Amino acid sequence: MENINTYIDQHKDRFLNELTELLKIPSISADSAFSQDVIDTAEIVRLSLERAGCDSTEICETDGYPIVYGEKIIDANLPTVLVYGHYDVQPPDPMELWNSPPFEPVIKATALHPQGAIFARGACDDKGQMYMHVKALELMVKTGQLPCNVKFMIEGEEEVGSNNLAVFVAEHKEKLANDIILISDTGMIANDTPSITTGLRGLSYVEVEVTGPNRDLHSGLYGGAVANPINILAKMVASLHDDDNHITIPGFYDKVEELSESERAEMAKAPFSLEEYKSALNIEAVYGEKDYSTNERNSIRPTLDVNGIWGGYIGEGAKTVIASKAYAKISMRLVPHQDWKEITRLFTEHFENIAPEGVTVKVTPHHGGQGYVTPIDTIAYQAASTAYEKTFGKTPIPQRSGGSIPIVSLFEKELGSKTILMGFGLDSDAIHSPNEHFGVWNYLKGIETIPYFYEYFTEMSS
Ligand code: BES
Ligand code: MN
Ligand code: MN
Repeated sequence: MENINTYIDQHKDRFLNELTELLKIPSISADSAFSQDVIDTAEIVRLSLERAGCDSTEICETDGYPIVYGEKIIDANLPTVLVYGHYDVQPPDPMELWNSPPFEPVIKATALHPQGAIFARGACDDKGQMYMHVKALELMVKTGQLPCNVKFMIEGEEEVGSNNLAVFVAEHKEKLANDIILISDTGMIANDTPSITTGLRGLSYVEVEVTGPNRDLHSGLYGGAVANPINILAKMVASLHDDDNHITIPGFYDKVEELSESERAEMAKAPFSLEEYKSALNIEAVYGEKDYSTNERNSIRPTLDVNGIWGGYIGEGAKTVIASKAYAKISMRLVPHQDWKEITRLFTEHFENIAPEGVTVKVTPHHGGQGYVTPIDTIAYQAASTAYEKTFGKTPIPQRSGGSIPIVSLFEKELGSKTILMGFGLDSDAIHSPNEHFGVWNYLKGIETIPYFYEYFTEMSS
């Protein structure tokens, strides 16, 4: 590959300006008040693919938000890379914790991003990382160096479970046929320590409702004499972990993949400072499952967390009341071999079992998906690894992530393709949190590294 750095140098201001425009649109898939913005974003992404050099692009309607598709097929005998990403973003709340408005991007330097980071919702997850691929395509096409075929599939419902993408993939296997799926929607260890994500956790997300008396009651007249759904829910939730922070749902760990001592030793070699971890979060101690390290707890071990809990009176002042209902949203992160539907069933049975007399409980599954492990003895991994060596001057470390992209295991099932996860964000980029950002250096480094993946993957495939 020639002149990659020259092309990036000449066009980097425009690359940043285009991303800034994309980040200004609040494409929040979870909130229907923003539905027109989500739809508008799909069209902007389509246009960007057309301008970058795709031969054909289309907006594919679904029962939800559209999927943007684009392709450039140069030779049926060459390999095909399918790029997946998402143009929808998480809701920005709590708004008051943003230092600048979430949809008015600004570039500011930070300790980890001395050359500046772009602050906006979606900067890293996933508009910024997705757009690196659009610009890498432009670079390869405009400099006459695209070595293989490329297809893009960019969806607008990743943050709400990708239900319609699953249907689309199952119905368009031929159209989406590929040799490798390439995704930048994860992170890496540090700017001087590149890593390739080799695992994603599965997910089961449920909502629970505990109902006591048929109406809200005076807490003096009835308190102590009837089950208080909030007290009961708190007790039930607390009982889901034991004193060693193991999850108490019967059968929960039955299929969990146990790593060998040598695999765990290999994992422990990845650079990690517990002191920095704690100080970045302003906590005095970490907390989690006994006998596992922090990096194991957040990647190879399954977890259960309450994401929200509510009920009763939360307005100003005090109201003496026993609420009729209490609610919680609970997510379980799963590891390879755990089946999310089975875990959802085990959770439901257990939660119904532990409900005491005097309340009824209802469990509603939201969404979920399987975990994924990327094999590292493949051409794709080798090509990605060599690409990082070329642009970072270092061999990337394979690292399992704690996050989930449930559609990845479905790609393998429906399309028979493996996925390679080349993430360029940092854990500290605050995805899903206030002040999300993405390093300008990371953005440009991604645009520089991706074309080498194409080159090496094509070479190694022949
Ligand atoms: N890009 C993230 C997932 C991610 C981030 C994986 C960092 C690894 C490292 C994705 O957009 C996301 O937020 N996924 C959700 C699941 C989805 C079903 C809503 C998640 O992990 O909570
Ligand atoms: Mn994402
Ligand atoms: Mn996300």
